[in-house]
Amino acid sequence: MLDANLNPATEAAVEGIRDYLAAQENKTLLRFLTCGSVDDGKSTLIGRLLYDTKLIFEDQLAALEKDSKKHGTTGEDIDLALLVDGLEAEREQGITIDVAYRFFSTPKRKFIVADTPGHEQYTRNMATGASTADLAVVLVDARQGVLPQTRRHSIIASLLGIRNIVLAVNKIDLVGFSKERFGEIVEEYRAFAKDLGFASVMPIPMSARFGDNVSRPSENMSWYDGPTLIGHLETVDIERGLSAKPFRFPVQYVNRPNLDFRGFAGTVASGSVAVGDQVVVAKSGKPSRVRRIVTYDGDLSRAAEGEAVTLVLEDEIEVSRGNMLVTPDARPHVADQLAATLVWFDEQAMMPGRPYVLRTETDEVSATVSALKHRTNINNFAHEAAKHLEMNEVGECNLSLQAPIAFDSFADNRTTGSFILIDRITNRTVGAGMILHPLRRAANIHWQALDVTKQSRAEQKHQKPAVLWFTGLSGSGKSTIANLLEKKLHADGRHTYILDGDNVRHGLNRDLGFTEEDRVENIRRVAEVAKLMADAGLIVLVSFISPFRAERRMARELMEEGEFVEVFVDTPFEECAKRDPKGLYARALKGEIKNFTGVDSPYEEPERADIHLKTAGRAPEDLADELEAWLKDKGIC
Ligand code: ADX
Repeated sequence: MLDANLNPATEAAVEGIRDYLAAQENKTLLRFLTCGSVDDGKSTLIGRLLYDTKLIFEDQLAALEKDSKKHGTTGEDIDLALLVDGLEAEREQGITIDVAYRFFSTPKRKFIVADTPGHEQYTRNMATGASTADLAVVLVDARQGVLPQTRRHSIIASLLGIRNIVLAVNKIDLVGFSKERFGEIVEEYRAFAKDLGFASVMPIPMSARFGDNVSRPSENMSWYDGPTLIGHLETVDIERGLSAKPFRFPVQYVNRPNLDFRGFAGTVASGSVAVGDQVVVAKSGKPSRVRRIVTYDGDLSRAAEGEAVTLVLEDEIEVSRGNMLVTPDARPHVADQLAATLVWFDEQAMMPGRPYVLRTETDEVSATVSALKHRTNINNFAHEAAKHLEMNEVGECNLSLQAPIAFDSFADNRTTGSFILIDRITNRTVGAGMILHPLRRAANIHWQALDVTKQSRAEQKHQKPAVLWFTGLSGSGKSTIANLLEKKLHADGRHTYILDGDNVRHGLNRDLGFTEEDRVENIRRVAEVAKLMADAGLIVLVSFISPFRAERRMARELMEEGEFVEVFVDTPFEECAKRDPKGLYARALKGEIKNFTGVDSPYEEPERADIHLKTAGRAPEDLADELEAWLKDKGIC
């Protein structure tokens, strides 16, 4: 019953709107993304979809006509790409630079499309857009055919769990609507994609610019009897099957407005849950039952995949943010070692041994790639040996995490089976991972409890353990100063040891060279050794170039609070090259030594060294005195 004051005509209109809204709500939603190379016409295609489904309003059209005259690439026609390429910068450069989401609907379905850029370095955005998509429209320019970018994007789509592909052979008008050309491209793509595990690959010849086979069948291609793009998108089966999967509920936050209410807020990632159901906390295994399922619009008796709810449990159990409530019948893996497929986005290559932040739906832990098993060649899927992953490369690796996380394999659950890696220094998202399986190998190694402790060892020596970490260019004076300082400490009765780069590289690290990945491993090992020595109660002096901030930070974090002292031995490159005690600079500058720090390999200066020794014009003895005084003053040794 509607408002009694409305006249029948209004009432009918309101009823009509309600019906319309109800119909909208009942329509299924298809999320898809478009990908392909620059100039394949993605933006034009999306513009065409919006235009044909009448989602462009009059004023936008007027602006578009005006803009098309100014920036367009289509002469006097309306340039549909301009509608989509909203950013001014994109128009100037003629490329698309960020993921844009567009919404449109037809009488049969609702759609969200992610427009992802095709430029070589934008794999990251592609992966971002793809992570929730059901289907990918892979655009190919009929004149160009299948390009490396087409393959790369298809592989990423497959890795990200997309099961349905539309191969949109665009600009078919520019090859005279040729059936043969279309056939060639389809054949090439099918041969390439046969191992990618797609459930469907639907090739459609089209002209986004003129609208052929987008929403209306083309009169120019009587040889084609397949669906239009819209027709296919409206009917393709995208059964996600997530509701049939085990219940997973990543807890976003603990909702505790007052002492009487404690609920866990989040979105059901898969499966469903009903009041009375048993659940367990993924990591601790603590069981409870669901007492209430609370939403803004009142309580529910059941919640399924995709619903944002607050769960109230029967028992007061510890569930912090970053944990997952799950069904007791099919619990996720909990492990700190796992194997995953990694897609790398960053200009700085992925280095095994370097710490990154690994973030899942629920967890955030420090992680390193413990082994890069292989890199996948995106043209032929060959497994290639590799020591690191460059931008846009894909590989399979083992990861070692600082603490266990709860997860599923990606094949079972895209939400709880994926993660991103974040650079700890720049905070950039540098990679995306799809978990293959947990690794059990470390599970049978446990810490052995020892009776003589670090503290008792140190007390016997009447000292506090410390790690004095000297960093600086080759020839900057690190070893000289460390040596002088050790003599003083030794004379004072301290128990010390020097780990020197040149020396350690003769033994423990003799297998390592000077590539970036070898230096990362060099520092990882020496940091671990320094930690053991500190555990033995020693004052350790480490003298390594240690050129990267990430590894110095990792070394700091290995040690106890206050134990690690970063000493920056700051000698300008010119001065080191002039001193050149080992004659290495002269050779490096002539190109005889590769990857030489300061020449063709970077040195990242410390931003916050504990002590910064500017060596210019000062004697080493003087610097060692200053350092000793500083350490005494701070009560370090
Ligand atoms: S680090 O970068 O991995 O920390 P480390 O301190 O172990 O370097 O070793 C540096 C020493 O190796 C230098 O003092 C120098 O004597 C020698 N060396 C040989 N080749 C190189 C190179 N390409 N770059 C820097 N040092 C080199």
